[in-house]
Amino acid sequence: MTDARKTSQIRDLGLADAGTLKIDWVREHMPLLRQLEDRFRKEQPFAGKRISMCLHLEAKTAYLALVVQAGGADVAIAASNPLSTQDDVAAGLVKRGVTTFGWYGATQEEYQSHLRAVLDHEPFAVIDDGADLATILHQERPEQATKIVGGCEETTTGIIRLRAMADEGVLKYPMIAVNDADCKHLFDNRYGTGQSVWDGVMRTTNLVIAGKTVVVVGYGWCGKGVAMRAKGLGAKVIVCEIDPIRAVEAVMDGFSVMPIVEAAPHGDYFITVTGVKHVIHKAAMERMKDGAILGNAGHFDVEISKPDLSSLATSIRRVRPNIDEYQLADGRRIYLIAEGRLVNLAAGDGHPAEVMDMTFALQALGLREIVENRYAPGLHMIPRAIDLEVAQMRLQSWDVGIDTLSEEQEAYLHSWQ
Ligand SMILES: NC(=O)c1ccc[n+]([C@@H]2O[C@H](COP(=O)([O-])OP(=O)(O)OC[C@H]3O[C@@H](n4cnc5c(N)ncnc54)[C@H](O)[C@@H]3O)[C@@H](O)[C@H]2O)c1
Repeated sequence: MTDARKTSQIRDLGLADAGTLKIDWVREHMPLLRQLEDRFRKEQPFAGKRISMCLHLEAKTAYLALVVQAGGADVAIAASNPLSTQDDVAAGLVKRGVTTFGWYGATQEEYQSHLRAVLDHEPFAVIDDGADLATILHQERPEQATKIVGGCEETTTGIIRLRAMADEGVLKYPMIAVNDADCKHLFDNRYGTGQSVWDGVMRTTNLVIAGKTVVVVGYGWCGKGVAMRAKGLGAKVIVCEIDPIRAVEAVMDGFSVMPIVEAAPHGDYFITVTGVKHVIHKAAMERMKDGAILGNAGHFDVEISKPDLSSLATSIRRVRPNIDEYQLADGRRIYLIAEGRLVNLAAGDGHPAEVMDMTFALQALGLREIVENRYAPGLHMIPRAIDLEVAQMRLQSWDVGIDTLSEEQEAYLHSWQ
C-alpha cells in the first residue's frame, strides 16, 4: 500500500479536520454510495489493485475514493481542474490513506505534473474526467496504456475525445462511458448542473437573477437544466444552439432562440455549456451591454474566448473573489467568473451530494465491472443492468415503490397479433 502521507502533493495536511467534516457531511447524503461501501468492504472487488482517478477534488469525489478504497484498492487521485480543488478535502483524503495530488490554484505546469504523478501510481484501472489521463497515456506513455485493464469516463467532453480515439483505432484500453448512462446525464447533467451553476453564480456575484436576461449557449443535457433553473429563478431566458432539433426543443420549452450575436445585446448573464471552444467570441462580446456577466459550465475553459476578451480589454482587474472585470476601450465592462472555468465547481461546491450519489454509484459499479470482466479496447456503454440497479437503489433510498409488468402485460408487449 502506498504511503499517502509521503507520496501526496497537497497544500497543507493541517487542514485535514475541516476536510473530514466536509466528507462526512456528503457521506450522510449519499445513501447509494454508503450501501456500496458496505458491499465493497465485504466483497473486496478491488483487493490489492491500484486505482488512479482524475476527478474534481472536492468532498463527493473524496467519498467515492474512500468507497473504492473500502473495496480493497490502493487509490491515488489527482484534480481534474486547478480551480475546483478544495485543499481541506485533499488533506482529509491523505489522512485517510488516499494518495492525493492537487491544490487550489495550481499553475498549468503544476496541474499537469499532478496528472503525471497519479499515473506514476501505476494504475490497474482508472477513473477519468475529460479524458485527461487518457490523453497523457496515449501521447506520452503508450507502453503504460497497454497495461491498463480499463476505466470509466465521467463527462461528455471526455467521451467525445475517447470516441475520436476509438474511431481512429488508437484507444488502447476499454473505457466505460459513464456519462452516457441514463442515471448520469438525465440527472447529473440536467438537475445537478442546473442547480449548481446558479448556486455558483449567485454566491460569487451576490446579485439577483429575477428579472434579468440569461443567455444559455448550448441546450444539451446541461443547458436544459441551466435554462430550466434560470426560468425558475425568474429570469427571461434566451437559448443559442447549432442543432436544429435541440433548438426546436428549446422553443417548445418556452424559451427564445437566436444566434449568439443577436442574443449578445440582451444578456445580463451568459452561461456556456456546449463542450465546444469559443462559442462566445469577439463579434458577440462587441455587442454586449455594460456589466454583462459571463460564466462557463462546460468542461474546459475554452468556451468563452479569453483571447478575444483580452484583446478587447484595455485593462483587467479582479473585483471580487472569482470575478475579473474586463474594461473595454468604449467604456463598457464585461465580467468573467472563475477565469472561464466550470462556474459550479470553480466558484461553488459542484453538484448537490444526492445527485453525485447516483453518478458515483455508476462510477463505482462501472469500475467493478471493468475490473472483473475483460472488455476489448474501445468505448463501451455501461451495462443496462447497472443503470437500472442505480435507479432502483435511488428509489429505495426514497422509499418509493413502482409497478412491475404482469405476465399478461409482458406477453402482450412481445406479441404482434
Ligand atoms: N459543469 C458541470 O458540472 C458539468 C456536468 C456535466 C457535463 N459538463 C460539461 O458540459 C458540457 C456540455 O455537456 P452536455 O452533457 O450538456 O452535452 P450535450 O452534447 O448534451 O450538449 C451540448 C449542446 O451544445 C450545443 N452546441 C455545440 N456547439 C454550439 C455552439 N457553437 N453554439 C451553441 N450551441 C452549441 C450542441 O448542439 C448540444 O446541444 C461538456 O463539456 C460536459 O463535459 C459539465
